[in-house]
Amino acid sequence: MKDLLILCKDDINKIFDNEEEMIMNMVSQAYVEHTAGNSSLPHSIFLRFPDNPANRIIGLPAYLGGNIKAGGMKWISSFPDNINHGMERASAVLILNNMENGHVEAILESSVISAKRTAASAALAAKLIHQNNNETTIGFVGCGRINREIAGFIKKVYKDINTFVVYDSIHQHALNFIDAIKEENINIRIASSIDEVLQLAPLVSFATTAGTPYISDISSCDSKSTILNISLRDFSPEVVLQCDNIVDDLDHVCRERTSIHLTEQLRGNRDFVRCPIADIITNPDLARTGDKPVMFSPFGLGVLDLILGSYAKKIALEKNMGVTIKDFIK
Ligand SMILES: NC(=O)c1ccc[n+]([C@@H]2O[C@H](COP(=O)([O-])OP(=O)(O)OC[C@H]3O[C@@H](n4cnc5c(N)ncnc54)[C@H](O)[C@@H]3O)[C@@H](O)[C@H]2O)c1
Repeated sequence: MKDLLILCKDDINKIFDNEEEMIMNMVSQAYVEHTAGNSSLPHSIFLRFPDNPANRIIGLPAYLGGNIKAGGMKWISSFPDNINHGMERASAVLILNNMENGHVEAILESSVISAKRTAASAALAAKLIHQNNNETTIGFVGCGRINREIAGFIKKVYKDINTFVVYDSIHQHALNFIDAIKEENINIRIASSIDEVLQLAPLVSFATTAGTPYISDISSCDSKSTILNISLRDFSPEVVLQCDNIVDDLDHVCRERTSIHLTEQLRGNRDFVRCPIADIITNPDLARTGDKPVMFSPFGLGVLDLILGSYAKKIALEKNMGVTIKDFIK
């Protein structure tokens, strides 16, 4: 095959629209295959800019074996100031290679895949770890794209949800969050502090753009609380040490000055992390073992992008979607 398939954001949105359950199942499968060793996942590369340290572009090469057999790389930029100019923070492509001859066979717009796989991993972790299946109140710290996506997935997991408690350091972003989901049947309360969110919501998702920890006290949480640490850099090591810690991949998350990485540096070991989420997928009894809030810290693994990307490619070929460039490599 010498052709190249290109899928735009619209194509990806159509393929994954209203498919939260399926995406969570794919993410779960990728975690299990990865933790069982059916993957190859070099560390992501972080391209940073000395004259603008807030920005970065990350390359995530990955191979997923088992039934999937997909290989490729996601290339995703994060320019946090974009949202002040009406643009999304992140922009991404996913390159898929043919696993028999290595040839590039598809390029997919990937900010949607990235947001959905991240939200699916958060909702899946909540479903597995947070023991109250009838939860009614969820907290969101950071009111951007990722927490909006997580809100959509969380609603599929918790049918009784009736209240969101939200906080953003920029009040207008909290108002935008309300606007984005106002037609849905949910009361939204804007909290005046993170403490208030932690007090009111037993399950809280953090998706900010903080680069260094600024939360050193979570005494307003109780031992049944669950924290989804999606942005990875909000909590001080002291807070991490007060939690029961679950990760996606310990080697990956102990990098790039995440809160887990900083805690490892402080402690000189990784013993404060209990297990990867895949262990709980395969043995739900491991969900909560102690009397502490549970914190889930997913670094964000390229195998998740791959499993969604290779599914999108399959559906696009079946349904004649996207643009095919004939003889791209002739
Ligand atoms: N772990 C993963 O797999 C994964 C995957 C994708 C994105 N992320 C991370 O999720 C985060 C959110 O991404 P996004 O696309 O929603 O970004 P975004 O820019 O759309 O939204 C971030 C929001 O956080 C707010 N914020 C920043 N600092 C804050 C603070 N200290 N307290 C409260 N609010 C604060 C901002 O005002 C903004 O509204 C990013 O850090 C991104 O790197 C993680």
